[in-house]
Amino acid sequence: MRRTTGTCYYPEHWDEALWADDARRMVEAGLTWVRIGEFSWSRLESRPGEFTWDWLDRAIEVLGAAGLKVVLGTPTATPPRWMADKHPDMFAVDVDGKPRGFGSRRHYCFSHEGYRAESARIVEIFAKRYGSNPHVAAWQTDNEYGCHDTTISYSDAALKAFRIWLREKYQSIEVLNEAWGNIFWSMEYNDFDQIGLPNLTVTEPNPAHSLNFRRFSSDQVISYNRMQAEIIRKHSKAPTSHNYMGRITDFDHFKVGDDLDIATWDSYPLGFLEDRVGASVEEQRSYARQGHPDFQALHHDLYRSVGNGRWWVMEQQPGPVNWAPYNPAPLPGMVRLWSWEAFAHGAEAVCYFRWRQAPMAQEQMHAGLLRPDGQDAQAMAEAKQVRDEIANAPEFEPHQSKVAMIFDYDAEAAWAVQPHGEGLSYFGLFFETYQALRKMGLSIDILRPETRDFDGYAMVLAPGLMHMDEGLKQALTQARAQVVIGPRAGARDADMTIPSPLPPAISGLDVTVDRVESLRPDCPEPIEGGGAVTGYRETLVGGADVVMRATDGIPVTMKNGDVTYLGAWIDQAGMQRLLEPIAKAAGLETHSLPDGLRVRDTETERFWFNYGAESIEFAGRTFGPASVTREVLTK
Ligand code: GAL
Repeated sequence: MRRTTGTCYYPEHWDEALWADDARRMVEAGLTWVRIGEFSWSRLESRPGEFTWDWLDRAIEVLGAAGLKVVLGTPTATPPRWMADKHPDMFAVDVDGKPRGFGSRRHYCFSHEGYRAESARIVEIFAKRYGSNPHVAAWQTDNEYGCHDTTISYSDAALKAFRIWLREKYQSIEVLNEAWGNIFWSMEYNDFDQIGLPNLTVTEPNPAHSLNFRRFSSDQVISYNRMQAEIIRKHSKAPTSHNYMGRITDFDHFKVGDDLDIATWDSYPLGFLEDRVGASVEEQRSYARQGHPDFQALHHDLYRSVGNGRWWVMEQQPGPVNWAPYNPAPLPGMVRLWSWEAFAHGAEAVCYFRWRQAPMAQEQMHAGLLRPDGQDAQAMAEAKQVRDEIANAPEFEPHQSKVAMIFDYDAEAAWAVQPHGEGLSYFGLFFETYQALRKMGLSIDILRPETRDFDGYAMVLAPGLMHMDEGLKQALTQARAQVVIGPRAGARDADMTIPSPLPPAISGLDVTVDRVESLRPDCPEPIEGGGAVTGYRETLVGGADVVMRATDGIPVTMKNGDVTYLGAWIDQAGMQRLLEPIAKAAGLETHSLPDGLRVRDTETERFWFNYGAESIEFAGRTFGPASVTREVLTK
């Protein structure tokens, strides 16, 4: 497949006289794709049932006639103001019980039946009108589900739907009471209609209640998206997609992805570094103009899996953004580096957000490929360089890596409900493990927790899976690979109760978690020989071989055959000590990469990325600052 680029465009923001020239310049910049439409509802239906389609018809025609392929976004992330008059209770409600009103975007609750019907109506009209338009080559449902913390809503609509969801799941209130352990603190219910939402309680709600509410909220996103995807499919053969985000994990993206053809995500490396990565102050300083060297890669690998192999970057940061605590400009070369990194991880397309910087409204300070006056902005030269480079690069093939990590959105929810220590999160644990592997120069696939076939993988890691299906436990122990499981593996059953026999309860692995504790950040527990346990820790007992031990004598890792159990959150030095010998036993070639330098292999190519602001010398070679080096691999 050929790698392509694109951009996000808002014809409704500009005088129609500009469209044709914009389209011509997009083509000249080598762009294939142009995404439009996702915030256009008020211009299409200015009053209920009063439609104006001619401008969008013409915009699609102008862009298509210039040779661009249109990705058409359904406009449901921004319902017009009149919608709030029609459905005054359509807003999501925050944890304190306050509605999140009109005046920005994503002002709807996934559970509101009236808004669902309005969404279905507008999507149907869209899909009918443009479903066979030759220029509409792909669809996007809505925009960034979960953005601005909008997955969870404590509205009356959510309450009503949650009760139905619980009734379907548990069938009888006695079963629910038993499963949740509601006898504790006399929380037993007589009827499903007595169950409230897990906010506004005096102290923490029952974790089973909270976890079920998170699972329900995830299911609402899944069914809302499915509703849109099914309508589009009735009228169009073009592929469907949704643009996911960085570190937004509060719905099951794998399940949303199953209803779509392509996963896309919105990559803002500098915004993320300040806002979402959880990097140290030192890392924030070193990578302020480059982004974290592993954060984008992790999401590329995750969304490749969510898209079942097909994925894009739908929004690539091209310059300073407006929304992070600090918004520096990228170092020269970084827009090119980010683009190539996505391609190295298998992206079919990288689209820059946005075409022209908006002089008005919320995102005035957000760069585009063009300045607000229409002149080229800094990133344009790099977008054109990427155009020339992909034209000269061979087609790419799908690639299976040798190392796999299992990512589970449900584990993220369980950790969020019960982190056991301040600042501990499943994503954080997963990211630190991923970083340790990347520092060893390994390329990684991310797999969903339903995976049972690990063929072709030499090493499989499953950190932090708080609930583990019996089938997954068995598949992992039977995999022909080096396997690392834990910490917190199978720590809870499906209803958030501690199981007996005690975790991890994996047959063939003679390890039991005798006790768990969390550590103050300033009280790490050193590991014999180097590294430390930080944050979360289990006391492991059993007959398996102890591989690593803390200086107080408690095992950190134990092993039976090719399966290693890790009973703690350990620092990067500890991770390297744990993972190096396991990678070796798996027959993998590893490097000890200097800070900022990363490598990614595909079937036919090896890419080196220097995220550093200075040149790096490694293995007798020099990698320039903010640079990409592509080599062809001989098989
Ligand atoms: C994304 C969003 C875009 C735009 C962009 C700014 O979250 O999808 O519409 O707001 O961020 O960086």
